[in-house]
Amino acid sequence: MSAYHSPLWAQFYDNWVDRIFDPTVTSEDVGVYLDQLSQVNAMNDCRPGQPFVIVEVGSGSGRLVRQLFKHLGKRSTISEFSKSKEPEYILIGTEPSAPMLEKARVLWHGFEAGWHEEYHHPESVDVIWGQASAGNFGDYIKKVLSDRPNSDYGDRPEQEGSGLTKADLIIFAAGGVSHVARGEEIRQFLSEVSEYLRPTRGRAIISVLNEFFSPGDHFDSNPALASRFIGSAEQQRIKLSPETAQRIADPSTDGKFFVKHPTLEQWDAEFKVRTDKFRVTLENTDGADVDSAELEWQLKVVNLSEWKELIKQAGLRILEVIPGDIQSWLVINKL
Ligand SMILES: C[S@@+](CC[C@H](N)C(=O)[O-])C[C@H]1O[C@@H](n2cnc3c(N)ncnc32)[C@H](O)[C@@H]1O
Repeated sequence: MSAYHSPLWAQFYDNWVDRIFDPTVTSEDVGVYLDQLSQVNAMNDCRPGQPFVIVEVGSGSGRLVRQLFKHLGKRSTISEFSKSKEPEYILIGTEPSAPMLEKARVLWHGFEAGWHEEYHHPESVDVIWGQASAGNFGDYIKKVLSDRPNSDYGDRPEQEGSGLTKADLIIFAAGGVSHVARGEEIRQFLSEVSEYLRPTRGRAIISVLNEFFSPGDHFDSNPALASRFIGSAEQQRIKLSPETAQRIADPSTDGKFFVKHPTLEQWDAEFKVRTDKFRVTLENTDGADVDSAELEWQLKVVNLSEWKELIKQAGLRILEVIPGDIQSWLVINKL
């Protein structure tokens, strides 16, 4: 079972992930999604009163959702987004792990409580968390949207996708898509994206960690970019301790430390999947373990040529690939 289903990992996650996606460097994360949201908004084919529907797949502890609304809550960002009236937002975070979801609910509650003091609260924000995986998140969206009291927003049946049955943005952030290691689930994910993405203006933004692109795959034409993509994921190898232990103070406990011990990486060359195995411990102030778990997760290489074909088969297309330092984003829309 994936590390994300461990309550100990869920407790540790936010402290760990902030070291990878530094919340102060918006260009490497939340800035990309805000930029896409702004482009979608500029298309201006929104019906009056119709909210923006943003879906996050693999939303984890809700880190990105809080980041998004921190920025949307700043007055300058709001005026950038809408000239006359603040848009309404429905954000649906879907996540397969129960402990991560629980953490998302708790952290969101705290975030919302402090919102009025720190940030301007956008006029209407409805954040809903639900348990679902990449391969079946659509069922959850359908249920949430159809359960809303006024879910038709003046829809006319002949205008497919014009109402509140589709998402304006579908986000899979922080390289999470590599955890979808089964080919069948990748196909199901793309088919769900195709079904639930709003035609024309809707966009899916999928982050892929640069080391999980196939080497030389799509950056051949740009040697400067190609050099960033190590592509080490292609090599079959078993490597012990590629990193030293990470010891991170846990601010939610008094003086305790989380330790992520060195990872054992195992490569499956046939399926292009890396399995990372590692131990996580929670140490008290004397350095004694008070909790520990043996964890693992799988990460699959994204072969862009294969993905292009799958994306096309699902009735989608890649609009652009946005390169970043540690991850790049596939921006996808409906054909
Ligand atoms: C790197 S974390 C990203 C979490 C969050 N989106 C963020 O930006 O902090 C990857 C997330 O993907 C989730 N995940 C793993 N396998 C998944 C799957 N098959 N479908 C959807 N999400 C999955 C994990 O449980 C985890 O919460």
